[in-house]
Amino acid sequence: MQRGPVLDGLPEWYLADQLKKFKSGQRGKNAANRAEALMGVAMAKVGTDEQLADLTRHFSKRKPKPFIRVVRGDIPVGRAHYATRCASCHGTKGEGKPEIQSPPVNVQEDWFLLDQLRKYANGQRTVHPRDAGGVMMKAALAGLSPDDLRSVVAYIARDLTVTPPLQKVGPPKK
Ligand code: HEC
Repeated sequence: MQRGPVLDGLPEWYLADQLKKFKSGQRGKNAANRAEALMGVAMAKVGTDEQLADLTRHFSKRKPKPFIRVVRGDIPVGRAHYATRCASCHGTKGEGKPEIQSPPVNVQEDWFLLDQLRKYANGQRTVHPRDAGGVMMKAALAGLSPDDLRSVVAYIARDLTVTPPLQKVGPPKK
């Protein structure tokens, strides 16, 4: 079973924006993207705008969670790509730009960032033509190789992510 994204510490406007995309069917209707399809089904339970606002307020007030970095890549290559191809929309610190509905990328776990980049690139997260943000993201990734995507994410997780990396520890003592 695939885990979902971290929601803690993401801005209220972005959470609301994405939940509305699930609710309207701009996300969550692509069977090839199983994680999103599950989320689309789950959204049917969020009935009212008030419930949606309560959820987004709750998660945006929480602190971002530290995580174990798992994505490896070429940091200088990732840094260069980020500066030329991502920073204009996501900010030099990965803080996002609400005025163009561009989310922060410095809160989320690295595996999820990479998973989403792959899905934008292969069209699993941009199936709806009215999803302007998704369409923009797909265009932003044009020409980047799978290794480039890994390197960009490795750079983000090392230099931009707001939480310190969690260290791997042995299995918990029983
Ligand atoms: C033209 C503006 C623009 C550029 C350039 C851009 N992005 Fe985005 N990005 C967006 C927008 C808008 C969204 C929200 C899209 C949506 O609603 O699906 C987004 C979403 C994302 C997400 C999903 C975040 C999440 O929490 O689900 C990731 C990861 C991401 N961008 C990384 C990048 C990286 C890495 C680059 C550079 C290779 C990049 N973006 C370039 C505008 C941009």
